[in-house]
Amino acid sequence: MNTEILDCTEKSLKKAAELLKKGEVVGFPTETVYGLAANAFDEKAVRKIFAAKGRPADNPLIVHISGVEMISDIASNVPDILYSLSERFWPGPLTVIMPKSEKIPSVTSGGLDTVGIRFPSHPAAKRLIELCGFPLAAPSANLSGSPSPTNARRVFEDMSGRIPAIIDGGESSVGVESTVIIPENGGVRILRPGGVTAEMLSEVCKVTVDGGVLEKLESGAVARSPGMKYRHYAPKADVRIIRGSLEKYREYVLKNAESGDFCLVFSEQEAVPEIPFICYGDDPAVQAHALFEALRVLDEKGAKRVFARCPEASGIGLAVYNRILRAAGFNVTDLEC
Ligand code: TXA
Ligand code: MG
Repeated sequence: MNTEILDCTEKSLKKAAELLKKGEVVGFPTETVYGLAANAFDEKAVRKIFAAKGRPADNPLIVHISGVEMISDIASNVPDILYSLSERFWPGPLTVIMPKSEKIPSVTSGGLDTVGIRFPSHPAAKRLIELCGFPLAAPSANLSGSPSPTNARRVFEDMSGRIPAIIDGGESSVGVESTVIIPENGGVRILRPGGVTAEMLSEVCKVTVDGGVLEKLESGAVARSPGMKYRHYAPKADVRIIRGSLEKYREYVLKNAESGDFCLVFSEQEAVPEIPFICYGDDPAVQAHALFEALRVLDEKGAKRVFARCPEASGIGLAVYNRILRAAGFNVTDLEC
């Protein structure tokens, strides 16, 4: 199959909508990361997403809407808290889990009786859903296990020959995937941190951060969010998070680095003499924007091991820490102990 890259014009969006109406899969931009879309109601089309990504069948997809009125076809029961959350955070990087309707096939929800719904703010995503007239099931547009793509070129790298088209809508502004929450006891539980932070949510309701956000699931335990049990965002390199002051980090790297090793640091000033490095920003929002691209660049450079500085785990930094923790397979060396 030839994979065409389409520009972000109305004409191209119409072409993409036609493909989607025919049951095809299309790569498209959102403000978080690029997605791989199919008609959420069409079982056969959704199966193509799982095939293109090599995604385990029990990992549910998020259903994307272009207006709150679409929810009545997707969810069987809308939690009261949805209205205050949607008013404040939609369109935007927030996914809310609710009981699914009969119309959502079980392949879309990974066999669960719930469904995650999100109203993205990227204008091309919104327009594409409007042109289709149905909601789009869409995971991140990477091969399963790889870092999520934040531009069309990275989608092409993973999906070339697997899907007919990708819409190029520029760089994703947030850079990490949406915050996934499930309403509980009048508040919400964060299953995956993202662009809408715990601090922001707590201005609306009580917030609990699920244990799976920062800790490895015990073997045999049931994940509240099935995606949490899989190795994720992982480059080919062996990533290790090194927690501690810059001085201790440098000392550690100098003592342990071998040929082929890289540093993943916040800024150029933190580089360790003689060791190749990639920077991903001082500010948590910049780190979120740059992390996945940095992980892909490390692969391109053939990094064997990566010594990563440990980001601050608050605000959007919690999402950055959650992703890098998974990229590192939870390998953290604490130099402050
Ligand atoms: O920002 C995003 O959310 C992007 C863009 C494309 O919208 N999408 C995305 O989808 O990140 P995906 O499939 O890569 O990640 C969805 C996560 C997975 O960890 C999945 O297990 C969880 O959300 N999830 C989806 N539906 C769920 C449900 N009903 N219950 C629990 N977890 C769910
Ligand atoms: Mg993903």
